[in-house]
Amino acid sequence: MRKTAVNICRIILAMTFILSGFVKAVDPLGTQYKIHDYLAAMGLAQYSPDILTLAASVLLSTVEFILGICLLFAIRRRLVSRIVLWVMIAMTLITLWLAWTDPIHDCGCFGDALVLTNWQTLWKNVVLLIAAIIVWKWPTLQPRLISASNQWIVVNYSVVFILFFIAGRSLYTLPQFDFRPYHIGANLREGWQRMMDGEESPYNDFFIERAEDGEDITEQVLNDEGYTFLLVAPHLEQADDSRLDQVNLMYEYCQDNGYPFYCLTASTEKAINRWCEMTGAEYPFCQTDDITLKTVIRSNPGLLLLKDGTVIRKWSHNALPSEEELTKPLEESALGRQPGNSTTSKILWILTWFVLPLLVLTLADRLWAWTKWLRRKPQKGNSNNPINNISNMRKKIVAGNWKMNMNLQDGIALAKELNETLKADKPNCGVVICTPFIHLASIAQFLDQDIIGLGAENCADKEKGAFTGEVSAEMVKSTGAQYVILGHSERREYYKETPEILKEKVLLAQKNDLKVIFCIGESLEEREAGKQNEVVKAELEGSVFNLSEEDFRKIVIAYEPIWAIGTGKTATAEQAEEIHAYIRSIIAEKYGQAVADDTTILYGGSCKASNAPELFAKPDIDGGLIGGASLKAADFKGIIDAWKK
Ligand code: PGA
Repeated sequence: MRKTAVNICRIILAMTFILSGFVKAVDPLGTQYKIHDYLAAMGLAQYSPDILTLAASVLLSTVEFILGICLLFAIRRRLVSRIVLWVMIAMTLITLWLAWTDPIHDCGCFGDALVLTNWQTLWKNVVLLIAAIIVWKWPTLQPRLISASNQWIVVNYSVVFILFFIAGRSLYTLPQFDFRPYHIGANLREGWQRMMDGEESPYNDFFIERAEDGEDITEQVLNDEGYTFLLVAPHLEQADDSRLDQVNLMYEYCQDNGYPFYCLTASTEKAINRWCEMTGAEYPFCQTDDITLKTVIRSNPGLLLLKDGTVIRKWSHNALPSEEELTKPLEESALGRQPGNSTTSKILWILTWFVLPLLVLTLADRLWAWTKWLRRKPQKGNSNNPINNISNMRKKIVAGNWKMNMNLQDGIALAKELNETLKADKPNCGVVICTPFIHLASIAQFLDQDIIGLGAENCADKEKGAFTGEVSAEMVKSTGAQYVILGHSERREYYKETPEILKEKVLLAQKNDLKVIFCIGESLEEREAGKQNEVVKAELEGSVFNLSEEDFRKIVIAYEPIWAIGTGKTATAEQAEEIHAYIRSIIAEKYGQAVADDTTILYGGSCKASNAPELFAKPDIDGGLIGGASLKAADFKGIIDAWKK
């Protein structure tokens, strides 16, 4: 129920953000004008140069679009849901102000594609704000459409698409989708006539007045049944003059073929004169309202071709017709005809170059995730890999315990070397490396955990809270690690970890789905006093024999005689086997023979490549927990290979 609500809200938000970002990116200049209107309403227009408002327009559309994509694919769920909530709070406050004071009549959230009143926008934002709160409250209930490791592809691809192929292209040429009343195919004559008849019409401010005598020639221009070119330059002072030769060429072409050509501008007579001097322009100038001109075409200057009062074509100054295209009169050339249905082809273009690649990527990713899951599923006859067999079966394992050795860089280098070595020459036992906390997250990024499991060397006995310097089981798990060593003799001895403390640690580790490698072992004095069996039994009883059978089955035991750790003195294979068999027998007493037979019991203490084969050959020794010899890839590999002998 909750999950459904979160996902409905997420889809609504995603679609709204994508649509809103997209229509803004399609018309960056329109969005810029809107931003300018807002700043003017706040009295800030004079502090915001055009370049800044244009940058803000492109940034706004990109951010909106990318947030929508992230919501759709459930990318960085927590972060994105937090940002979306903040955006919606800000937007709702702005629209509340808009609805209240009405300084601008159309908020511009969907560009010209969908015009809402300020009150409609406010209600829309209230609904979206509620949706944003729901998603923010339970962000992880959104199922990911793509694995975390491939999310960057979706984000980068979407940024490139919206920034360069939509916003950039629309800026260089003209908006790829034109939602304004002056789009190609619009019959200006009819619209203007309706306005003259006193009906509601979007052409209210459309007029053309000859600059030289102030005569209104709108009717004459719109009623002309032939072709008319309108060069639209709202402000000649700011017009791009880099392609004026082409404009002059167009004018000559019109002269030769008898097509009327007017330059519509809102500039003053002085500016018009300066323009003529500068560019050699000979075409007639007309006055039109500047906002109307900015709406007619998003290019300064831009060129519009009318025929019979209808808009046939529009060109930005960056893409005017070439000289070769102007060899024939319009009646005989493609230039004189309305282009085919370009909306369908543009939608197809977007589907082919944006939607389709993302769809293929998503499908490939899901397929990859599925096969990975299949490979990870426990399989009969493949009981060696500890990751494949989360519990229950006895396994052969070689686990490294790095202790307090190696800085981050050296640790990463060692893990990488090991990763490559074992990928090239697959082990036939489970391999785990347990590293200092600070290495975990970095190593988890690249370690192939199908081959090498990753673990910590310790975790806190408290769940969370004010325990300065401690690292909880949940934190360990969140790095990507799957194992944790608990009860190591060095921790029992130097950090006074008692059986009670260890019991808590085991519970918390299991609660967080960490597999525990639980260490037991006697000191030299205890061995000399013949108390080794007593000691290991007490250690098991004190910390893990309280577990249910199901939970005990998830524990890996490591027997490490303290006198053999780091001393170079190994227990003989016989000594080790004897106590391993004893450990198995007390497990059988407690949980039954089946559990005992399935329990993995490792040996630790000066285990190296030279003595590993003999130790591992013993029936009750299932592998090793390796300290010193795990710090060099070659040494560690030598021990792993003992299972191949
Ligand atoms: P060692 O350490 O192999 O260096 O003796 C084993 C351990 O403490 O886990």
